[in-house]
Amino acid sequence: MSAFPITRLRRLRQNEMLRELVAETQLAPNDFIYPLFISEEISKPQEITAMPGIKQWTVKSVVKEAKRAYEVGIPAVLLFGIPSKKDGVGSEAYNKKGVIQKAIREIKSSVPNILVITDVCLCEYTDHGHCGILKNTIVDNDPSLELISQMALSHIQAGADMVAPSDMMDGRVGAIRKLLDQNGFVDTPIMAYSAKYASGFYSPFREAAQSSPQFGDRKTYQMDSRNVREALREIELDIEEGTDIIMVKPALAYLDVIYRAKNQYNLPLAAYNVSGEYSMIKAAAKNGWIDEKRIVMEVLTGIKRAGADIIISYFAPQVAEWLQNK
Ligand code: PBG
Repeated sequence: MSAFPITRLRRLRQNEMLRELVAETQLAPNDFIYPLFISEEISKPQEITAMPGIKQWTVKSVVKEAKRAYEVGIPAVLLFGIPSKKDGVGSEAYNKKGVIQKAIREIKSSVPNILVITDVCLCEYTDHGHCGILKNTIVDNDPSLELISQMALSHIQAGADMVAPSDMMDGRVGAIRKLLDQNGFVDTPIMAYSAKYASGFYSPFREAAQSSPQFGDRKTYQMDSRNVREALREIELDIEEGTDIIMVKPALAYLDVIYRAKNQYNLPLAAYNVSGEYSMIKAAAKNGWIDEKRIVMEVLTGIKRAGADIIISYFAPQVAEWLQNK
């Protein structure tokens, strides 16, 4: 290799077309999954204060938003439900007539081609706000698996294309796979929130999904942010249990985890650009401190460059529009 003055890296940066030609990372609308919140508690779409531009939708109005995303080229939505009744065992989560089950049917009948993926977790459905059921004040792993797999099955029976367990109980992927297979859904894929960290970046989501734990925190089931080898173990176990897609969440403070997962495993890898990552950009942009479009593109490109094949982001339809008008 010859160094300067033979080699000049600036040669390939001279103009837009040269830069386009040699760019190593490209974002496309079909990289994205768009999360949607559907609430049974409202009669019209409701702004989420902590996530400017993102709304809670009713079962009817969410169809319009899914359609808007589909029309700009987003291939998939990820649904979260807010039920009007909560109890200790999250009964509404696996109710055939629950809010998510209804929303799945509405979206699939009006926008049949968009992939409907559902978040599978009890925290929005339990009155204590934890992701599994309780024994005294402990989140009880094994009995929770039964309910979590019933929830997944009811989403698929309602017409969902894929389930995404986010509860972080041990063994949930295997339990869901088994129940889906027993019911003939052998072709239904699972996207596991494999390495999901106990993170401060979820705060705005907790307003959006009304799912704050009523006591304690999620550190007994979600991962410790100081660990990366443990993330690889989580991913490995999910693969053994039969997941089809693995996920790292959040994305920005965990780019090393994304990079390691990409190098080590050959499954499609998703990264969740979570609510706090969204809201921080929105807040800074609103104050005029940063250029929103530029920062969003830089951040999402960074997540893809680190190794994500799929990015779950509240910016999805906006980014798809920007990409189309490039
Ligand atoms: C449910 C769930 C959460 C998120 C996705 N699924 C919240 C949590 O675990 O506390 C966070 C998503 C976001 O912040 O955008 N367990």
